[in-house]
Amino acid sequence: MKYNLSEITEVIRERRSVYPESYSSRVVHKEIIEDVLNNAIWAPTHGMIQPWRFKVYTGDAVKGAGLELEKVYKRVIPEAEWSERKLAKLKERSESLSVLVFICMTPDGNTTIPEIENVSAVACAVQNMYLTCTAYGLGSYWSSPKYIYSEEMKEFLGLGKDDKCMGIFYMGYPEGEWPKSHRKPLEYVTEWHEE
Ligand SMILES: Cc1cc2nc3c(=O)[nH]c(=O)nc-3n(C[C@H](O)[C@H](O)[C@H](O)COP(=O)(O)O)c2cc1C
Repeated sequence: MKYNLSEITEVIRERRSVYPESYSSRVVHKEIIEDVLNNAIWAPTHGMIQPWRFKVYTGDAVKGAGLELEKVYKRVIPEAEWSERKLAKLKERSESLSVLVFICMTPDGNTTIPEIENVSAVACAVQNMYLTCTAYGLGSYWSSPKYIYSEEMKEFLGLGKDDKCMGIFYMGYPEGEWPKSHRKPLEYVTEWHEE
């Protein structure tokens, strides 16, 4: 065995989506965010497109991003459907978090690689982010409210026509218990063909 697989397995299985409401006020420092993103960019990528793009907001900029998200929400969702609860959550998050990362995808001018493969590469990058956070004892969470797929969101983030916003990645030091989860057993999701 070349690496310590039991430790790698533990990180993979302990990785959880930890929601911002359970983060403490402890700041996630830039060096750690850079480690998380430097691991993200070592994800597999068909054709070496490296389609991941990150828009990182820290410090006072987080609140500004929250205000922009509120504007996007209000432009995209019909007024009759506005949820006071969701808007309040958005505000609370942007006032308490030390970092927000918008996860974006760009084909970077390439027209040969199918979009699904660039999207998949970015998802692999996000898994690297999740795992790096887990190793640091940081909670993290990939959020994808419907409005992130809108033109208004692309406009806010300055994305091109073939680019996508794939989500918001939250990070923070968790307070309280690390969440538990479960998975369907391997037998349920696997078909073996041996003869
Ligand atoms: C592409 C993607 C988008 C997600 N978006 C949301 C979301 O908008 N809201 C949410 O509560 N969880 C979201 N999640 C997190 C899942 O809810 C979470 O991964 C799932 O409940 C399993 O929990 P675990 O990550 O702790 O194992 C998303 C996960 C992925 C992979």
